[in-house]
Amino acid sequence: MNVTTASRHARIRALGEHRPAGVLTNSEIAAGGLDTTDEWIRTRTGIDRRHVAGAEETVVTMATEAAAKALAAAGLDARDVDLVVLATCTMRNAIPGGAARIATALGAGPVGAFDVNAACGGFCYALSVAADAVRSGSANRVLVIGAEKLTDWLDWTDRGTCILFGDGAAAAIVEASDEPGIGPVAWGSDGAGAELVGVPDGDWAIRMDGPAVFRWATTQLGPVARRAVDLAGIEMGDLAAFVPHQANLRIVDALVRALKLPDTVVVARDIADTGNTSAASVPLALARLVATGDVQSGDHALLLAFGAGLTYAGQVIRVP
Ligand code: UT7
Repeated sequence: MNVTTASRHARIRALGEHRPAGVLTNSEIAAGGLDTTDEWIRTRTGIDRRHVAGAEETVVTMATEAAAKALAAAGLDARDVDLVVLATCTMRNAIPGGAARIATALGAGPVGAFDVNAACGGFCYALSVAADAVRSGSANRVLVIGAEKLTDWLDWTDRGTCILFGDGAAAAIVEASDEPGIGPVAWGSDGAGAELVGVPDGDWAIRMDGPAVFRWATTQLGPVARRAVDLAGIEMGDLAAFVPHQANLRIVDALVRALKLPDTVVVARDIADTGNTSAASVPLALARLVATGDVQSGDHALLLAFGAGLTYAGQVIRVP
């Protein structure tokens, strides 16, 4: 056996995003008869509106759109990719997964393709797996996509869940590099919290004990973020950006306080017009920071994702 890749690193080369054209405001939800108000949703969650996929749009079509944009941004062709990893928890059917169809739709050829389901934690899990595949030499260039059609799984009479979620997809191209561009992952899980959020047996929609998930996220995830920063060998003050999962603006703000982030750190607050898009939330928020110029190429950004399972994962990356 000849291992020649021992010192190879991985980086994100480019990003692409797809936000569905349909938009649903809080006021529209309230006008539909749900016992809620625009003010309650805005003040308790930070959400003002969310993108909603059309009937013809699926996890696979949204993921393909985002991936095509990431390839175009990198000036690459789908045949330059040799692995596709899709992070999602909202496919309509458990089998087949979506990654192979995305690869085919892009024209990637017979590449490796599989799905990762770590719910809202999924993108950071998939990114870690992709970086490891590149570092080990199992792959040279990987398309990592977070894509969700959460509105397929919402009960529009359940005000504890339906106001929170939206649809969308974002993709990252991960490839080999001379310098580390994706830090070691800090990840973990707590299956004892499995009942707190998910689709219960015999049900069809997402149900959630919101306050319990809120308490868990605001009390348990600070140390995970700190571990990711330690593993990257940097200090909190070296970060240019913090890109946490967009579950609730009050969770984002609580994490910022717990981490005592300096004011110099840009914090992703994509949730206002995106809602919670589960595995798509971290890459969508990162793509927006890049698009708006709030972060620069080479900056350190801390990604932190968490959700049903319970699962969580975070790592420091260099902004593409
Ligand atoms: O990505 C997956 C992980 N998910 C999360 O991280 C979500 C975490 N949890 C949350 O974001 C929050 O817990 C929610 C936004 C879901 C709920 O906010 P909350 O501040 O924890 O409210 P609550 O559930 O404690 O409810 C407070 C009150 C209750 O009324 P009473 O009993 O005090 O009369 C609820 O019935 O607010 C009521 N309420 C609402 N009122 C208007 C709950 N949902 C709504 C609503 N509109 N949509």
